[in-house]
Amino acid sequence: MLKRTKIVATLGPATDSRESIKSLIEAGANVFRLNFSHGESEDHIKRAEKIRDIAKELNTYIAILGDLQGPKIRVARFAEGKIVLAKNAEFIIDVSHDREAGNSSIVGTSYNTLPKEVKSGDQLMLDDGRIQLEIIATNTTQVITKVLVGGDLSNNKGINLKGGGLSAPALTDKDKKDIVTAAKIGIDYLAVSFPRSAEDIELARKLLKEAGGDSALVAKIERAETVNDHDVLDSIILASDAVMVARGDLGVEIGDAQLIGVQKHIINRTRELNRVVITATQMMESMIHNPIPTRAEIFDVANAILDGTDAVMLSAETATGDNPAKTVQAMANVCVGAEGQKLAKTSNHRVDINFESIDEAIAMATMYTANHLKGVKAIISLTESGSTALWLSRIRSGMPIYALSRSIETLRKVALYRGVEPINFDPTALGRHDVNRLAVEELKSRDYVQDGDLVIITKGDSMGALGGTNAMKIVKVGEVN
Ligand code: G6P
Repeated sequence: MLKRTKIVATLGPATDSRESIKSLIEAGANVFRLNFSHGESEDHIKRAEKIRDIAKELNTYIAILGDLQGPKIRVARFAEGKIVLAKNAEFIIDVSHDREAGNSSIVGTSYNTLPKEVKSGDQLMLDDGRIQLEIIATNTTQVITKVLVGGDLSNNKGINLKGGGLSAPALTDKDKKDIVTAAKIGIDYLAVSFPRSAEDIELARKLLKEAGGDSALVAKIERAETVNDHDVLDSIILASDAVMVARGDLGVEIGDAQLIGVQKHIINRTRELNRVVITATQMMESMIHNPIPTRAEIFDVANAILDGTDAVMLSAETATGDNPAKTVQAMANVCVGAEGQKLAKTSNHRVDINFESIDEAIAMATMYTANHLKGVKAIISLTESGSTALWLSRIRSGMPIYALSRSIETLRKVALYRGVEPINFDPTALGRHDVNRLAVEELKSRDYVQDGDLVIITKGDSMGALGGTNAMKIVKVGEVN
């Protein structure tokens, strides 16, 4: 059975070899994430080459997502590498303190504006919220706090402000350099960390273009202020091609109890606005060391799938974990299980809106027909940019959508879309009738359909014209001529 939900797997030391990349693809990975927070530009270039080489060898299309580090705010380093913070103790974060010489009463940070951006009564969450500090006073260089929840704290752990609001610009100097690397690689998706607004995404797009790149942009939703204001969230979604529910920092800032509702809203809204959505962070966390996931993890992945996410993501599980391929395989099993549920297949989406364009109308008519006409086994979407396939895949359905395109970039890009399977096919040299016949034959040769099945084809009047989809045709396999 075709897995509809896409799996984004982060590569790292545990998955550097050709064999392990291959095993991840075979287990069900559709997109590889290169984390620009680690490694040099050369490493990323080599990894990307390796991925493309292996995908070609396996005759499949895999997208590459480059994830920019962004302005993660961190404590500096401790003289001893780590400290223990006791409850109620005083602890100072000082922008002028020696960055290598932290101790259990004071530590540096490179985020120089911190004392100006916080006030007494605010809470700082360190190390993904494991440590909590209440601010009791600030001065020009220091934030003086009382430990609310103590514990171990080691070098370079993250700092979040509960409720959000720290104003660091989304693109750091390092990110700007990494954008040049991303353009060089010709990655398929570029993920921007901590965007505050649509402008941050637009700036990343502009820099990428200037560097000669043309990838789709992913906004990582991880600041409280971007989910507290629905207009801001909408504008970020619309400025992007895809968004990521980046649950790590977002959960720390808004609290995990709120996160589940926010996840559902982001997924729903993103699909409504015709963008693609990835759900990320700690989805199969226990499998970093364990051979099987917990039931709670299985339910978390399944829940995101029932919410409608296009993709689920693995981070440390595949980058540094003990069982990368097993984890992807376990996740793929959950995907297929959840996709079988009625909720995952039925849609009331767009029942009461007007369509904006002809291709959207054709896509909606196609999905309605596919979901209701007996005997339909597949949809073939002839697509130049992936746009028709995107329209189709915004509707919940159990129907496979085969995106047939002559563009390799498009085939890689649609690897992230839920329910969409990329197939290389060039209609431009073919006559109109040959296109239908050969497209159906392509599916038949892969055993995706059999004689007697109905297939719906979407296409336009001219072959190879972007945005030109204006027809749906229903054909019976074995009788197409
Ligand atoms: C292919 C087909 C055209 C169709 C186009 C849609 O090129 O041959 O008939 O109009 O795809 O492309 P789009 O990028 O808008 O999905």
